[in-house]
Parts: sequence; C-alpha cells; structure tokens
Amino acid sequence: GAMLAILGAIETEVADNRSLLEDPVELRAGHLAVHQGRLHGVEVLLARCGVGKVNGAMATTLLRSAGATSLLFTGVAGGVAPAQRVGDLVVATDLVQHDVDVTALGRPPGQLLGEPRSWPADRAMSERLLAAADACAARDRRQVHEGRIASGDQFVASAPRAAAIHTDFGALCVEMEGAAVAQAATTLGMPFAVLRALSDTADHGAAQDFPAFLVGSARLMADVVQHYLR
Ligand code: ADE
Repeated sequence: GAMLAILGAIETEVADNRSLLEDPVELRAGHLAVHQGRLHGVEVLLARCGVGKVNGAMATTLLRSAGATSLLFTGVAGGVAPAQRVGDLVVATDLVQHDVDVTALGRPPGQLLGEPRSWPADRAMSERLLAAADACAARDRRQVHEGRIASGDQFVASAPRAAAIHTDFGALCVEMEGAAVAQAATTLGMPFAVLRALSDTADHGAAQDFPAFLVGSARLMADVVQHYLR
C-alpha cells in the first residue's frame, strides 16, 4: 500500500510531527531510526537523516527499502532571493546541487556527468503542498514562494555568496539535503516534494538567525504537513 515518508535533517525539524504520530512503532532501516504510524489517518514513516547530502541520500534509499512509496522532505533553509523574509515558506519546483563543479569538462555549474542539471519534484505532491502552505501562511502573513532550491554541503553565511547562488542557479533558497534526496528519489523512481521554511537569509546574520528562528520555522512546517495530510 501507499506509504509516505516524512524526512527532516535535525531533531527540531522532525520532533513536532513525531509527537503527533498515532500508534507509533519504532523500527530500524539500516542505521536509521524510523517511526511508523498514522498522521490524520495517513500511513507514514518519520525519520531524521542528519545534515548534508550524503545523509539525505542514504536516508531516502533506506526509507524506500523500508516500504516508502513517496517522500516529503521538510526543514529550514536560508533565503537567497530578494524580498524574502525569515518565516517565509518555499516549495521546490526542482532542486540543484550548487557545490557540484564539473565545468572543466564542459558541464554547467551544478551538473554531474550523466545527471540532469536539476531534479524536478513531483507536480501533484507539490501542488498540494502549496495549497497547504498558502492556507497556513495566510494566517501568519507569511509569503509562500515556489521555485528552485539549491543544496550543498555548505552553511551559507555571506550575502555575496547567497546572491551568487541566486544568480548562477536561479535558486530561491539554500539548504544541505534537498537535491541529494531529489537525486536518490528520482533514481529510485519514488515521487517526492520538498518544503522549506526560511530560518535566515544566508548572509552575515545567518549564524545567529538560524538557531533563533529554527524552532518557530519548524513549528510552521509541521503545521503545513498537518494541512497537507488532512
Ligand atoms: N539551512 C538553513 N539555513 C541555511 C544556510 N544559510 N545555508 C545552508 N543551509 C541552511
């Protein structure tokens, strides 16, 4: 049957959803602790993958083997587009790996040999996620953005670097797992979507803003997930 995996990188990004899980059962998929149960009657697998692209890709693979048929990644990100604010929501249209560089072999920045430049998220899941995000954001006067998300094994905390990621990749925000999850899910034939709430704007203030806004942004995302499942 259908089984939705909900994945986050760090404890704060998964704690709210886990506390709402009905009939929870803890299981292991390789090294990964997985919490199985129901959220609003939907069968889900919840997991925390840890930070970075390798952890995102491993967890995606293990969740697929554990029976997940689709995957929703939720977490925080740094905004890199103009006119964004902390607390805004981003739903991915597609994801790119901004730290990939095979330009010496003629590939555009972000593109590996034998891979696409970006990995599109599932349309139906993303539309539904957008509707849920709009419903939650309207209450709090937050904006919902839809567009490309850039991922890399870097915490970006420089305005020029953030601006370059926006310009070079057309990305709205930067984080550290989404595009790796996207690559793994695409390779495994598993539909996926990515939702991010902005904890910072990837500039000189990011190191202070990220811990300050993490909890609030994570709560908002859990709220969107509840709407999504209803
Ligand atoms: N996640 C949240 N903020 C981030 C940033 N500035 N860079 C990378 N990942 C992030």
